[in-house]
Amino acid sequence: MDVLEQCRSWTAEHLRTGGGDCYYRAISGTSDGTEVEFEGKRVIMAASHDYLGLSADPRVREAAVAAVRRFGTSLGGSRAVSGSLDLHEELEDRLARFLGHEAAAVLPSGYQANLMLAPLLTAGRYVYSDLLNHASLAEVIRLGDAAERKFLHGDMDHLNELLTAASGADGADGKIILTDGIFSVGGDICELPDLMKLADAHGAHVVVDSSHDLGVLGPNGAGAGDHFGLRPLLVTSALSKSLASVGGVIAGPAEVIHYLRFHARTALFTAAAAPANVAAALAALDILQSEPERRARVLDLAEQLHRGLRALGYDTGTSLTPIVPVLTRGRERCLRMWQELCGAGVFTAPMTYPAVRAGREVLRITLTAAHTDQQLVRVLAAFEEVGRKEGLVPPVPTRRTAPDTGGRPAVIPPTRTRAFTG
Ligand SMILES: Cc1ncc(COP(=O)(O)O)c(C=O)c1O
Repeated sequence: MDVLEQCRSWTAEHLRTGGGDCYYRAISGTSDGTEVEFEGKRVIMAASHDYLGLSADPRVREAAVAAVRRFGTSLGGSRAVSGSLDLHEELEDRLARFLGHEAAAVLPSGYQANLMLAPLLTAGRYVYSDLLNHASLAEVIRLGDAAERKFLHGDMDHLNELLTAASGADGADGKIILTDGIFSVGGDICELPDLMKLADAHGAHVVVDSSHDLGVLGPNGAGAGDHFGLRPLLVTSALSKSLASVGGVIAGPAEVIHYLRFHARTALFTAAAAPANVAAALAALDILQSEPERRARVLDLAEQLHRGLRALGYDTGTSLTPIVPVLTRGRERCLRMWQELCGAGVFTAPMTYPAVRAGREVLRITLTAAHTDQQLVRVLAAFEEVGRKEGLVPPVPTRRTAPDTGGRPAVIPPTRTRAFTG
């Protein structure tokens, strides 16, 4: 089929089935990050991963502005040649220490941070990947030459089987296990202690993508490793979530980071992260470390949101983190509810194929540390109204728990990776 025909027929079908209505929709303004202007109306932004509510923080904004004044808008070259600033090195040192590693490399995006792993996925190695890992981890496996083994989501028995079965020339050069720390759609936490035990038993290395747990989990807010008191070989993360910026990081042993800087094409052949983004991440890291109450707040709001939605009759899966997936079961309903929720003043994230398998569609909601109790109440009211219309919420709710707005600090014990109960 000709390329034009390929795109024409797909686009016609996509628009016919409503796919064009909910994605790539422009927002025209945001003041404090918790509400945005959308189609001439002010709606609550409940789809951003700015977990600590720092993207609108004056300290972060001012740091970005100061970096633009000092260094300009672009470095016009790659880190390897002309685009390295002392600011990049400062962020790398700070992030390495924060994540408990010797060294780190900062990339222009989190996607690229994961693509940095490609030179390690050589022929002769096995790479084990959780089925629900982020698309960028799936992508780096396609870039590499290692033999891929996918394990069922969070299924340590399956991983053990695959690790045990690996033999012969393919596995001679070692094994690498890739997992998200918090899974980006389901919101559940990886089974890191069991996974690392298996890795030890089979001589495998572990890489954790901490994009969604950095800033959220752990006594120091350093993510899944900090939460469980464990240190995988490598940690990657986007800077676009708790660090209120755009960029990515990979942290690990100094020799590994050095090797990857010189072998990963995603680092060598791309422009350096912009000064404003680096400065914003540094300022956000300062705040993350000095204001742990933000972490407590985002977890507390998440727990209230989970409880409120479940009391209404919604299924929020096994998540117990600020990623709150509301199962809609069906693409059409997911897209329709997204529109209805916008009408009711709440902007959510519709997750349909290819983000999830057909039939596993969810509306993903996240409230940040900057959202107010009042906004939480409004989000729940919108879900109640829309859920009634859709027949997902019974006419008279069986049990309606008023959100507990006491603001008590929430901590997820390391022994729990799934669903709030009770
Ligand atoms: C788990 C995970 N890894 C990596 C990425 C990619 O990060 P970025 O958006 O900075 O490219 C994302 C972002 O959506 C993510 O959720």
